Amino acid sequence: MSTATTISNTGTRETGAPDASDYARPTARVHFGVFYSGVGPGVDWTAPDAIDQIDFEAFRKVAQVAERGLFDAFFFGEGLRLREHLEKLIELNVAGRPDSQVALAAIAAVTTRIGIVATQNATYHEPFDLARRLATLDILSGGRAAWNIVTTVNEWTGENFRRGGWVAVPDRYTHAEANVRLVRALWDAGQNLDIATRRDAEQWGRTGTRVTGDGDFAQVSATATVPPSPQGHPVLFQSGDSDGGRDLAARQADVIFSRHVEIQDALKFAADIRRRVEAAGRPADDVLILPGGGFILGATEDEAQEKARWRQQVTWTDQHIVQFVEKSYGRELPELDPDGPLPDFDPEIQEISVEGGTVGHYLTPKQVVDNWRAISAEHGFTSIRQLVLHLGSERAHIGTPAQIADELAHAVRSGAYDGINLGLSHVPAGLDDIVNTLIPELQERGVYPAEYIGTTLREHLGLRPPLTRRTA
Ligand SMILES: Cc1cc2nc3c(=O)[nH]c(=O)nc-3n(C[C@H](O)[C@H](O)[C@H](O)COP(=O)(O)O)c2cc1C
Repeated sequence: MSTATTISNTGTRETGAPDASDYARPTARVHFGVFYSGVGPGVDWTAPDAIDQIDFEAFRKVAQVAERGLFDAFFFGEGLRLREHLEKLIELNVAGRPDSQVALAAIAAVTTRIGIVATQNATYHEPFDLARRLATLDILSGGRAAWNIVTTVNEWTGENFRRGGWVAVPDRYTHAEANVRLVRALWDAGQNLDIATRRDAEQWGRTGTRVTGDGDFAQVSATATVPPSPQGHPVLFQSGDSDGGRDLAARQADVIFSRHVEIQDALKFAADIRRRVEAAGRPADDVLILPGGGFILGATEDEAQEKARWRQQVTWTDQHIVQFVEKSYGRELPELDPDGPLPDFDPEIQEISVEGGTVGHYLTPKQVVDNWRAISAEHGFTSIRQLVLHLGSERAHIGTPAQIADELAHAVRSGAYDGINLGLSHVPAGLDDIVNTLIPELQERGVYPAEYIGTTLREHLGLRPPLTRRTA
């Protein structure tokens, strides 16, 4: 049993792990995805063994190590426009953001079991293209594909698309849901192309099922082109956090990828999602919850904390820290010293620029800076660096493998979440320690399998058959 200590800044570590039978969900298990890091400041690309983040070798290594660790899924984010700061590319964005579906097709060929999740924007991609390409990925991989549905809040990304492809913020989830319904209808129509009907000569002359949509966002009349995969059709993930995003997940998704990993916050989020899922007429637990998170492991807790401090120093460069503050001021702050205090003046701009591509701008720049001041006062921070490192450390579990395994067992058994979608701070070697030392601890606690139970992603996640088939 571990003793009480602090997990980064996310709260106080509970003591030990009670017996499984003390929990509401004694048989719960931990699911893992690996969220292949895009271009954020959390990744140490300067490490001597780091590989270029878009090098296929890096994808391959991470996916294969994750598969050795019996992970459910390898997950790609999507960046449809490279992030900028004051009209210049933000440092690591110079590496580019390749398309997830194309990259995942290559990963499908060098793996056999792990699920492959493509983040694809429901605002810009056409339903027919999404249905066809994702179903192709699903067939190619033997039933391992998933679509992570995202929308976007900004017009700036829409400029890359025809007619500025953007949908106004209040409409974006109405549009996304119309899009998802069409994709699912096309997948359902594809069920009619299964092997039994292909072998039945009497079926050859029949007309394909036509999928038509109505409403402002669904005017298509399309037919399916791809038959079902061994898992029926791709699994649906969703990762918007607003009411609209959560309701879309409750109605349509199998899994929600959230930001809520700190245990109290996660319990609150899970209760909210279960309420929405029930309101959508589904069993409360129908949607799995996987928050994004990270693990920093050490042989002792002190070693892990030291590693965390070091990692923050190398990933949060002076340039990143200055940019982080400048974003809320909308201009360069040449006098800003990362080791000095926050500016003593307020931002003059009324809105944070969307060019950073950051998600969820719900606060005004002044509110953001006021929050920073309040957090600094609460923790006694005297420098911007202390504040930024504190904000940047929010989602990591830091400790020994045994401590983190206890925490994960506690979280899944108490229903806070179903597992973690793991971000990596070091590519490609960042998963090695986790697979070698944390997985055995989880297995010992009875919350992690000893082998893959099935061959499809739907089976790994323990999902019921596709919703579309159930409602049919
Ligand atoms: C954990 C998480 C991961 C996300 N990953 C991506 C991504 O890779 N690409 C993307 O375009 N949007 C991504 N998003 C953005 C969301 O889809 C959405 O556009 C954004 O959160 C605003 O929607 P909301 O107001 O419903 O939260 C992510 C959101 C969350 C919470």
